[in-house]
Amino acid sequence: MSMTPPSATTDRDWWRTAVVYQVYPRSFADANGDGIGDLPGVRSRLSHLAELGIDAIWLSPFYPSPLADGGYDITDHRDVDPRLGTLDDFDALVTDAHERGIKVIVDIVPNHTSDQHPWFLEALRAGPGSAERRRYIFRDGTGPGGSEPPADWQSHFGGSAWERTDDGQWYCHLFAREQPDLNWDDEQVREYFLDTLRFWADRGVDGFRIDVAHSLAKDLSHPLRSQPDLDRVLPLDGSDPLYDRDEVHEIYRSWRKVFDEYDPPRMAVAETWTPTSSRTYLYGRPDELGQVFDFSLLKAEWHPDQLRTVISRSIEEHTSIGGAMTWVLSSHDVPRHATRYALPVGTDLDAWLSSDGTLVPLDPEVAARRARAATVLMLALPGSAYLYQGEELGLLEAADLPADVLQDPVHERTGHQLKGRDGCRVPLPWTPEGSSFGFGDNGSWLPQPAWFGAYAAAPQGGRAGSTLELYRQAIALRRSLVQDEHFAWIDTGDAEVLRFERSEGWQCMVNLSARPVPVPGQLLLTSEPGSEPGSETGRTAYAELSSEAAAWFRPAREE
Ligand code: GLC
Ligand code: CA
Repeated sequence: MSMTPPSATTDRDWWRTAVVYQVYPRSFADANGDGIGDLPGVRSRLSHLAELGIDAIWLSPFYPSPLADGGYDITDHRDVDPRLGTLDDFDALVTDAHERGIKVIVDIVPNHTSDQHPWFLEALRAGPGSAERRRYIFRDGTGPGGSEPPADWQSHFGGSAWERTDDGQWYCHLFAREQPDLNWDDEQVREYFLDTLRFWADRGVDGFRIDVAHSLAKDLSHPLRSQPDLDRVLPLDGSDPLYDRDEVHEIYRSWRKVFDEYDPPRMAVAETWTPTSSRTYLYGRPDELGQVFDFSLLKAEWHPDQLRTVISRSIEEHTSIGGAMTWVLSSHDVPRHATRYALPVGTDLDAWLSSDGTLVPLDPEVAARRARAATVLMLALPGSAYLYQGEELGLLEAADLPADVLQDPVHERTGHQLKGRDGCRVPLPWTPEGSSFGFGDNGSWLPQPAWFGAYAAAPQGGRAGSTLELYRQAIALRRSLVQDEHFAWIDTGDAEVLRFERSEGWQCMVNLSARPVPVPGQLLLTSEPGSEPGSETGRTAYAELSSEAAAWFRPAREE
């Protein structure tokens, strides 16, 4: 496969090749010692991000929220939660980030609000049939006395997607019951979000990450249609009542007009968590959001065929719609990739987490080796890469958090069947010792395991072979290499060794086999600890790449 789509990387297109770093604000750094990370904390750690060399940060929600779903339940989309700071703190963060050349992306959560949002409280008060209720999805129940839910829709977090109110009507919530779904047929809802985009764009934000982007348009015609299975592959004709309907694209075309009111135009990236299909990529069309997360790399296991397949598909699909490619290995919603790759192919991650990580023992050295190789692979791919805070430290999932500290609603709503996502949201270790390992002065909202200190940021800085140094070097080197969208596989004759060519004669090789393989050229970077460019291995023209390692190199001339 070889493809070189036209691409002009001007400043307006910075996001097409960006390395974006996801900050989960409550878990990044706590400036005022209340155990909760905050915006001044992010600001105080900007030098870490600048040294990492990333192009942008994406801030997960920092808006006022009762925290029923980690801040994705919002009571005011245009303010800062007082526990996380103020709008002034936000402005100061944007100013400082911009001064350091770091762009800022904020999270927009348009599918639902908090049940404490003024609109929802008004809707409850105003009663059935009111204009206030029309902003949400209220229906009478079925069965005797309307005591059964209006439809069989299920919540992503377990159980029915319907909750009954005191006056007997039901409302729809595709996530927690504290997250009522908005009705996107309502004009006020549409206006509210257009104005919210302008509000943040006017404050200087450079882009938006759109939460659950595929679910805003729903078929709410009477009688409501059945959709009991959220996880199935969606129909390819947009006919699902809840997800990925054709009409949702109209909404994003109207948002694009707002993005384009600004100079440079604001960027956006869609989150659509469904089995990936050719329709997934449509959100990234240039007249819509421009970018969509491709989670297929994140869902693939440490296996050459899986990696090859998802990379090929993603590049082909993106090229066909003209959207900008995205790659993700970790986020606040999935177990950290170092942990995932250390487990045997086929491991049931949910079961593994429920066993507190005892079902299959995890070897931290295997985890580090594979995670570093995967990162070197991801950063070599054309397009933009999204990093999740802590992966640059090599952090593992905190798999054995005790049940009584878990906060993710998934745990409660599945009757404790699933552990949920807290294990990747544990506050970061900045120093090997001290209260909450330098996260703050006074503990942390989720307990940090004792081994967290060994992954602290401070001692990794400047330490040859550390994961942090690998990230810094890879990101810096990536910036200096030509970043067009050229990509072509090269057959290695070995199914376990992936190799591809990028622009201007640089290539990447990933050795997923159990034996070392020769690197046919001059090494630029390898994922192996202790073999940074300039070290002994780095100077060798024809080096060996050990098992489960990845390298960037300039191919030898005879190649
Ligand atoms: C997205 C977020 C996730 C959140 C959900 C509901 O999937 O990434 O964290 O729980 O939307 O807003
Ligand atoms: Ca705090």
